[in-house]
Amino acid sequence: MADGSKPAAGAAAELQWTKATPAGYMPGFGNDFETEALPGALPIGQNSPQKAPYGLYAEQLSGSPFTAPRGTNERSWLYRIRPSVRHAQKFKKTTLPLWKTAPALGEHDLPIGQLRWGPLPIPKEKLTFLTGMRTMTTSGDVNTQAGMAAHIYLVTASMENEYFYNADGELLVVPQQGSLRFFTEFGRIDAAPGDICVIPRGVKFKVELIDGPARGYVCENYGAKFTLPDRGPIGANCLANARDFKTPVAAFEDKETNSTLIVKWCGSFNVAEIGHSPLDVVAWHGNYAPYKYDLRTFSPVGAILFDHPDPSIFTVLTAPSETAGTANVDFVIFPERWSVAEHSFRPPWYHMNIMSEFMGLIYGVYDARPEGFVPGAVSLHNCMLPHGPDKLAYDHATQVELKPVKLTNTLAFMFETRFPQHLTKFAAELDTLQQNYPDCWTPLDKQFNGKP
Ligand code: FE2
Repeated sequence: MADGSKPAAGAAAELQWTKATPAGYMPGFGNDFETEALPGALPIGQNSPQKAPYGLYAEQLSGSPFTAPRGTNERSWLYRIRPSVRHAQKFKKTTLPLWKTAPALGEHDLPIGQLRWGPLPIPKEKLTFLTGMRTMTTSGDVNTQAGMAAHIYLVTASMENEYFYNADGELLVVPQQGSLRFFTEFGRIDAAPGDICVIPRGVKFKVELIDGPARGYVCENYGAKFTLPDRGPIGANCLANARDFKTPVAAFEDKETNSTLIVKWCGSFNVAEIGHSPLDVVAWHGNYAPYKYDLRTFSPVGAILFDHPDPSIFTVLTAPSETAGTANVDFVIFPERWSVAEHSFRPPWYHMNIMSEFMGLIYGVYDARPEGFVPGAVSLHNCMLPHGPDKLAYDHATQVELKPVKLTNTLAFMFETRFPQHLTKFAAELDTLQQNYPDCWTPLDKQFNGKP
């Protein structure tokens, strides 16, 4: 897809994009991306020639078992200055105490409840994408490759000569304030509020700031990779369209500087001292790669006559489990859209859910809870805990004249997992935890009067 037209890319390469389907989506053949930062760096016609061009090492990164069915088989071939074994060897243990991994049970003694937090302030201290990661919830078990963790990141400094990869899961990053540049082995991705960026398991990267301090949300998915949901009767179009997902063109660092590579592995953090940058992939091809997506290109479908459909109509990406229709994680958004249903209660209905729902607001106002849930905030409606519109939203929805209304300037999202989400001690003790959140439903008094 990409071409080799950007020679001698190095660290100064401009950002370019291939435009193609996300890795793993297109069943069968024909889904390989290919890109080279130096002309002729990519071997033609074979993966592993006796001697690769430019003296590069050929290395395969497998995101699925070798024998996975063709439609879910994911791997990329990387042509790099040094093999990964020269970047990741002789580890020592290190710590990132606020980045937690499932199972992390019993960290607090809060009772169950509907929970909501105001935005975490971005502190003045130096925090990188790694040291600024704050785990709010964990679910499932990383050792069985099931479940997820929900994090908030607070970043005030770029990673310098520091690199990272996560063996525990892929990272779905949702910027809420400030832009991030992910310099990955596969090339560079800039992500601003309104975008998401997905870094697959095992992909080395560093994160730089672009326009000042940054805050956002992360879903660390321990399970099967995110992919696009089937559309069923919707047909071949709408929701997230494959053509809007972008993978980077190759870019590399040929840098001999004292550096560190940090690896997260089954919840432990390990560091290797290396004398060079591991972002030394000059060319690559394959279907296992990072990507970005602009959430504003999501084409929603909804009720065009009456009632309020299930929020699954807004699924952008789904990470399936072994049980059909029961996602390890769904990534769902609530974007700008028209609301036109007749004689209907238009906001999300009152409900209880076997799935557990971690929500955040990227910008604007969320229609079901117009007060208290501000950009950067978090709400957690766990397995089988009731929730729904607050009194203000209820009164408005039941009294307003139902004309077509466009919900504008709004972008909320949800990490919805089949597993209960367990609070971390950090989340349970946050000052921003809104102790009075459940009071928003208290004014919902009895209206039953025995008459129809
Ligand atoms: Fe819900």
